[in-house]
Amino acid sequence: MDLKQIVRDVLDFPKEGIVFKDITPILQSPEGLKASIDQMMDKLEGVDFDLIIGPESRGFIFGVPLAYNMNKGFIPIRKKGKLPYETVEKEYDLEYGTATIEMHIDAIKPGQKVVIIDDLLATGGTSKAIIDLIEQVGGEVVKLVYLIELEFLKGRDVLKDYSVESIIKY
Ligand code: PRP
Ligand code: ADE
Repeated sequence: MDLKQIVRDVLDFPKEGIVFKDITPILQSPEGLKASIDQMMDKLEGVDFDLIIGPESRGFIFGVPLAYNMNKGFIPIRKKGKLPYETVEKEYDLEYGTATIEMHIDAIKPGQKVVIIDDLLATGGTSKAIIDLIEQVGGEVVKLVYLIELEFLKGRDVLKDYSVESIIKY
């Protein structure tokens, strides 16, 4: 299934000048939802890892089914103020603003191998902040998998020391 065909471009959202890649047409199609999860899961074939980590909110959509299907645990990364227990946090820039993310301090044990899953790689700011949190608590990032990559924003340059995979490229 050609998923690129059904991604919708929304101009000037959430800010003027941004072309927002709307994945809701993929999610609302039973075939699209299945193909997107299956194609992301294919990228993890043969990869040795313990946990999947995904950022709020679109990272949850793909991270949890992948973790469920592969018998792994899932670690949520949330925007500041949402996680109930003690956290580590990181401020970062993304394509259309700045934000602070948090992770529970006991989410990852030292030496655990972690895969980062998200819907979209733009500048790489979000992913780099997640990597910093994982490494701060002693985890190891073994792969990052995205449904969409905006290649012209060069997120891969920020992630050059890591293994990055994506399904749909612009
Ligand atoms: C979006 C997207 C990625 C991030 C990519 O999340 O889901 O997590 O931006 O941008 P970057 O590579 O420039 O960091 P957003 O923070 O908008 O949250 P949402 O999923 O809740 O919409
Ligand atoms: N996250 C960061 N940039 C984005 C874009 N252009 N479309 C959808 N999600 C995004």
